[in-house]
Amino acid sequence: MKMTDALLGEHAVFYAIFDNLEKQIPGIESLDNLKSLAELLAAPLIGHAMLENEELFTALDPQLGGQGPLEVMRGEHGEIEGTLQDAANATDLKDLKQQLLRILQVARNHFGKEENVLFPMALSHLGEGKLTALGNTWAEKRKVTLA
Ligand SMILES: [Fe+2]
Ligand SMILES: [Fe+2]
Repeated sequence: MKMTDALLGEHAVFYAIFDNLEKQIPGIESLDNLKSLAELLAAPLIGHAMLENEELFTALDPQLGGQGPLEVMRGEHGEIEGTLQDAANATDLKDLKQQLLRILQVARNHFGKEENVLFPMALSHLGEGKLTALGNTWAEKRKVTLA
């Protein structure tokens, strides 16, 4: 299995979580409860971005490093990570709601760019063999058994 296929599967789970959060966030009345939701999202979403940074993006660096799409994706990972980590220090409920709803939109758009632009570029630059080897690395890191 190609690593990009594994990452697409992760996106699918995140889309369901984003849908749920977008419904829940407007009605939340406690800053601590909102922070807990942000924390719950932060660990897996930052973990997803780190895996992309460390494995897929690093593999693409020799060909795409310093160029548009890869650097845009890295920048958005930083923005998503920063916003979710800053949530722990938020003091205003309304402001944190806006920040979280905004970053969910950023994350959705980011996923869309990976799916439509970056992952197809990864296939054309790295080929099926390298992406499959990276898929094995994904499985090891995620502790998933591949048949
Ligand atoms: Fe990403
Ligand atoms: Fe992704």
